[in-house]
Amino acid sequence: MIRVDAGGWGATYAADESGRLHQIALGPQGHTTEATTDTFWYPDAYPCWGDSDPFRTAALRVTHHDGTLTTRLRFESTERHPRDDGREGIHTTITCLDELFELGVTHHFLTHPSSGVLETWTEIVNGEQGPVTLHDYDSVSLAMLVGTQARLTQFGGSGWADEWRWSTHGLDPGLLTLASLGGVQPHLQRAPFLLLDTAAGESAESAAEGNDTEVLGFSIQWMGNTRFTLDVRPAADPGAPRLLSLRAGANPYGADYVLDPGCSFVTPSVAWTWSSDARRGVTRSFHHWTREVVLREPQRLRPIVVNNWEATEMAFDEARLVDLIDRAGALGAEVFLLDDGWFGTTYPRDDDTQGLGDWDPDPAKLPNGFDPLVHAAQSADIRFGTWVEPEMVNPRSDLFEAHPDWVVRDARNPREHRQQLVLDPTIDAVAGFEIGVFEQVLGGNPGISYLKWDANRPITDPGSRSLPADRQANLWVDNVAATWALMDDVVARQPEVELMLCASGGGRNDHGTLRRFHEFWTSDNTDPVARVRMQWACSHFFPASVMAAHVTRWGERPLEFACAVALSGRFGFDIDLAGLSEDELDVCRRAVALAKRNATVIQQGWIEHLVSPVEGDDLSRAAVAYDSNDATRCVVFAYQLEDSTSPPPRIHPAGLERSLTYEVTCTDLTSDRALTTAKATGAELTTEGLQWPLATPCTARIWEITASGE
Ligand code: DGJ
Repeated sequence: MIRVDAGGWGATYAADESGRLHQIALGPQGHTTEATTDTFWYPDAYPCWGDSDPFRTAALRVTHHDGTLTTRLRFESTERHPRDDGREGIHTTITCLDELFELGVTHHFLTHPSSGVLETWTEIVNGEQGPVTLHDYDSVSLAMLVGTQARLTQFGGSGWADEWRWSTHGLDPGLLTLASLGGVQPHLQRAPFLLLDTAAGESAESAAEGNDTEVLGFSIQWMGNTRFTLDVRPAADPGAPRLLSLRAGANPYGADYVLDPGCSFVTPSVAWTWSSDARRGVTRSFHHWTREVVLREPQRLRPIVVNNWEATEMAFDEARLVDLIDRAGALGAEVFLLDDGWFGTTYPRDDDTQGLGDWDPDPAKLPNGFDPLVHAAQSADIRFGTWVEPEMVNPRSDLFEAHPDWVVRDARNPREHRQQLVLDPTIDAVAGFEIGVFEQVLGGNPGISYLKWDANRPITDPGSRSLPADRQANLWVDNVAATWALMDDVVARQPEVELMLCASGGGRNDHGTLRRFHEFWTSDNTDPVARVRMQWACSHFFPASVMAAHVTRWGERPLEFACAVALSGRFGFDIDLAGLSEDELDVCRRAVALAKRNATVIQQGWIEHLVSPVEGDDLSRAAVAYDSNDATRCVVFAYQLEDSTSPPPRIHPAGLERSLTYEVTCTDLTSDRALTTAKATGAELTTEGLQWPLATPCTARIWEITASGE
């Protein structure tokens, strides 16, 4: 019996007499359960094509060096080691070998007991005499019974500006594939996350009401294309639990990987958890683990950023920027971010048709380079940051004219998308160039302490001159490895620079890429009504410190409402500060002050999702709360998005101590004076809750609840 104790839940594996690996148990007692029947009868731990159930797709499908299509893995060894990074937890490996070929497969299980998150990945080692081709190469495979009312929550939208679209539905019998494509910003289309409410052992009523207690959460830590595969088998008795086989990893569509002898292939790591405290437990686990393991400098409060993108796009000059920097400083913001459009000499970057790849400041817009901007920022007591898109090139650029063969392409003319092409980082010279972009922009300008790293088109013509003809499709995986290596290099060379991850918005919102960054741009869609729903979904997996949320004019909503929505994420502005009236500026000042007073509780506290804008019959309202985890402070946000069709709910703040007295102030940001101030005990606030005060669409309230010491 091989036991994986993930912290409050776990799994057990064992090999049968032939050596085939089976999953004996999974769940809250999964690491302690004993087998009750012969191992042979338990589900395969990692189904292989040609060995397991012939009526199901497999986690591993390989063509061996001699053309053999089947794989039969047999148990070889298992090891358990304390983690090598000094953290609490165990790294368990289970190694199997094909019974005919020298193809080794090692399953890795890395536990994070304090958060209850388990990371699982698979390493495939080719010891055969020739190359093997990997057709399916999942990271994790599991089998479990789910109730007929089980529900799945996935996050697939229509693409750009529609990230994190929440969609919950039942799990019908059949095969369901949830995949993303495009390679560079695939999470625009589908965030690589899943929630599974198992409804196992629950009544149909409680499951239908969303009260399942057993919920699994998954995060595929991969910047490239991802895939979840769910295979549901009905039971003979229609009311009985169904067998679900779930697999997750990189999407192998069009991405057969040719692996040379002596080489190994490591799949993405999938982070997953099993909560017995409903979705709330999944969120707690993922936030805890994100802070403990994933995030760079988790204790560092993220700054209030003013970005010029929505304000100016590429139409600016030095004077305009200096004016905006002054205004951002006066407002109390902490970073001024100069976005796209600052570069290009032969081909000035006045729109997105040209200049990308030429990283010298445009002499017409910035005749003195960054220096005057950095000085202006210093005078305004604000940090300065800028924008790069190092992985891309416009055909109309000096770079492309000098190196037309540096792009991802095949023998055809490469297809333009947003008038640009993808540079191929698997070509050594290209990787060297991309590193050089950072040396040029950051090395030459030590006053830049914040950088937004963008990537704005997918791969449409996969092909690489660094790869032989028979392994062109390796590019989908190799591109991720090469880009992550580049990011690692930048972090190592410029550790003090704060990095924002962006890809046409939220195209790279994944825990794998985030390990190199401080935060990400959640979406280009900053319409506050849409954002409330996106942030609701995103915050099930990521803390607010990561989730950049800026105030803009999108949707033409009231400014105080836009501010209130951005305040529940990592707060900032993308609005033209020069175009604000005095009243509007006052709203922004109040929002900045509120963001600063509550930065610790919002960014580092615990979120409670209180009133859902994405599930139920009435999606007109939303409420979330952040609490400090020591019962001293809680901030509650309530949003009225549309006209309501149901009676108002009460809002129950969380994380308060029942016996303590709290001061409760409420604002809508329209006045320096609180709308209401009151005292109440933790018991009153928790049990009776706050009355829903809103009815008009696009209005908001923010309550700050502070232990008064009485
Ligand atoms: C896409 C990003 O999401 C935007 O915020 C902006 O940086 C543009 N790219 C600039 O081209």
